[in-house]
Amino acid sequence: MSVPAPALRLAEFIDASPTPHHATESARRMLAEAGFIERDPTESWSGAEPSAGSGAEPSAGSGAEPSAGSGAEPSFVVRDGSLIAWAGATAPDAPLRMIGAHTDSPNLRIRPRPDTGLAGFRQLGVEVYGGALVNSWLDRDLGLAGRVAVRAGDGSVGHELFRSDRAVLRVPQLAIHLDRDITTAGLLLNKQQHLTPVWGLGDPVAGDFRTWLAGEVGVDPAEVLSWDAACFDVQPSAPLGDDMDLLAAPRLDDLCSCWGAVRALIHATTESNAPSHASVVVLNDHEEVGSTTATGAAGDWLAQVLERRALALGGDRSDLLRSLAMSHLLSADMAHGTHPNYPERHEPNHWIRLGGGPVIKHNPNARYATDDTGAALFVLACEAAAVPYQQYSHRGDLACGSTIGPITAAALAINTVDVGMAQLSMHSSRELMATSDVDAMERSFTSWFTTAH
Ligand code: CO
Repeated sequence: MSVPAPALRLAEFIDASPTPHHATESARRMLAEAGFIERDPTESWSGAEPSAGSGAEPSAGSGAEPSAGSGAEPSFVVRDGSLIAWAGATAPDAPLRMIGAHTDSPNLRIRPRPDTGLAGFRQLGVEVYGGALVNSWLDRDLGLAGRVAVRAGDGSVGHELFRSDRAVLRVPQLAIHLDRDITTAGLLLNKQQHLTPVWGLGDPVAGDFRTWLAGEVGVDPAEVLSWDAACFDVQPSAPLGDDMDLLAAPRLDDLCSCWGAVRALIHATTESNAPSHASVVVLNDHEEVGSTTATGAAGDWLAQVLERRALALGGDRSDLLRSLAMSHLLSADMAHGTHPNYPERHEPNHWIRLGGGPVIKHNPNARYATDDTGAALFVLACEAAAVPYQQYSHRGDLACGSTIGPITAAALAINTVDVGMAQLSMHSSRELMATSDVDAMERSFTSWFTTAH
């Protein structure tokens, strides 16, 4: 009994990525190691422009060598918690094969004035980000991670990533002796009242958190201008089960797909049988809160980057629009495996097995963007990779979730298939999937990029 290598690599990626900022940093490292060139969004990408050393991101350290750059090399661009990367065919009107995924997961975010406390505890005020199963944040040892905006010497703003090495917070659950209704009414959590973590003993001190944060990034507290800070469970991802065929990990939704997309793109660049299309990966932040942000899927960023790429390759807008008319998106987000304790919550003819391979998600009301062409192309990719696949359809009497698929499909007017690997406990602080599905994902996503047409 050993854990397949892809699952271990995924676990490493997840553990290194407690926030979307860290996720793009992890992806940046993978792409730079594979020879991808980082493009600076503030510079011209055409002609002999050098690639970015990423002036906006002092902690970048991408290691990518500046290159003469014709715009044709495998490249990527990072903006906050989002990333777009591309490789393959360099004709500006070549079709695109794309994979999209999201870097964010539901969690607890630190408020701008967080210092509070009661009854001899120092506490930090938090707000719930996205559709978290808030019960899953109780009684876990929590670290803090994110990005700090600091005053730079020249009057500009610099950014520093941070993560605590150890647990610093906990949201303690009320003892059962003080919550007798829990067995009849269930656990009722008020997001304002009941989720404030403790982070020590004593009286609340104004500026406490700022001082701690300044220490984490090695600056004076007065240099800390703003932050984007979140709680994360410090327990590392781990194999689970008698045969170790399960992976217990935080943020599988959707770092699993982010990792798979980046791995597939890197594999596609080493494929000897070069396909006639270009391969593109887009990792968006803010899916869990509706995607309408500067770097979210509902924003204009992907369209802008694709246009800039086409222009840098010597094409014009008409080339890009013709390319999009021939392009296909695989929107990758996790899928619901059938829960053994709640089989009645699933459509009986569409049960999904963990370990059964990628899941094609269908919804006639476009909660998923899968169309017949997109589904067919993904079936062909699975067949070429000899990977089994499954078909998901939601119960008719339950509201269906959604993802970036319909949003990106609409923004680019592009054929799409929504695909995900099966998991349980979606939006819990610790989720569960099959280790074998990680390999199935990597191979089917790679095949999506390398299958000709
Ligand atoms: Co998701």
